[in-house]
Amino acid sequence: MGTLPFAAMPMIICEQIEQWLQDHRRCMQVAQRPQVTLCYAQSWDGSLALSPNESLALSNPQSMRLTHRLRSMHDGILVGIGTVLADDPQLTVRECSGQNPQPIVLDSQLRMPSASRLSQSQGRQCWVLTRQEHASTIRDDIKLIGVAVGEDGSVDLTLAVQELWQRGIRSIMVEGGAQVISAFVRAGLADAIVLTIAPALVGGYKAIGDLGIHSSARLPRIAPLHTQRLEDDLIMWGNLHYSIEAQ
Ligand SMILES: NC(=O)c1ccc[n+]([C@@H]2O[C@H](COP(=O)([O-])OP(=O)(O)OC[C@H]3O[C@@H](n4cnc5c(N)ncnc54)[C@H](OP(=O)(O)O)[C@@H]3O)[C@@H](O)[C@H]2O)c1
Repeated sequence: MGTLPFAAMPMIICEQIEQWLQDHRRCMQVAQRPQVTLCYAQSWDGSLALSPNESLALSNPQSMRLTHRLRSMHDGILVGIGTVLADDPQLTVRECSGQNPQPIVLDSQLRMPSASRLSQSQGRQCWVLTRQEHASTIRDDIKLIGVAVGEDGSVDLTLAVQELWQRGIRSIMVEGGAQVISAFVRAGLADAIVLTIAPALVGGYKAIGDLGIHSSARLPRIAPLHTQRLEDDLIMWGNLHYSIEAQ
């Protein structure tokens, strides 16, 4: 792990991650779907929050700036409706220079509040991936994209990323929450991960839920592994690899 001077570290990490992402995307060009990076912050015990319905600030200011820089490295930024209801996020890059990515929300039941900051944004209109039957609802505040649902009644992720690809989205940063992160891993659609680990024990809502895997041979693995410290936060990043049977 590096021990770089405090002031130089954020830019060096940004450049390292940007280079890694570019290399990763070059290898994926035949995939015909967006490259997906999971980026989120968790405590040492793997918690995202104290409970699913509340927001918990885990990242230190440097890590938060890195998160905003990471957003600017992707065409789209995606969260689940649970995160919108708990955090009311803006999903912009206001802590650094760069372009705001396209905000995207997975929301099968169309629960997206008109008063949310994403709905009220003066910037890019938020895209909401929802069940086909909700797609004709009249909403001026958001753009509705109808997607078929899977057996669990939630938007089918494979079809969702294809819809995004057709609209020009070539890379997506998936920021949370736990249900959405887990669903992307379960579907084998998460290609890479940038994890911020904050030095706290929360004992709360875990970032990764049931992946439906019951054998160590089928665990998704991360390699090669990169690590850097940003003050007391540990930043870890790498490519995700799935066993053939897991996909
Ligand atoms: N620490 C961090 O970096 C971070 C980042 C983000 C969020 N969070 C925290 O995470 C918590 C929210 O997480 P959460 O797990 O409750 O909600 P979530 O993952 O944000 O959203 C889950 C909802 O998304 C909808 N969805 C639509 N299609 C889906 C699909 N294919 N797979 C999964 N979900 C789908 C489902 O609702 P419908 O069926 O109604 O569509 C589901 O209930 C909050 O406490 C928030 O603060 C932390």
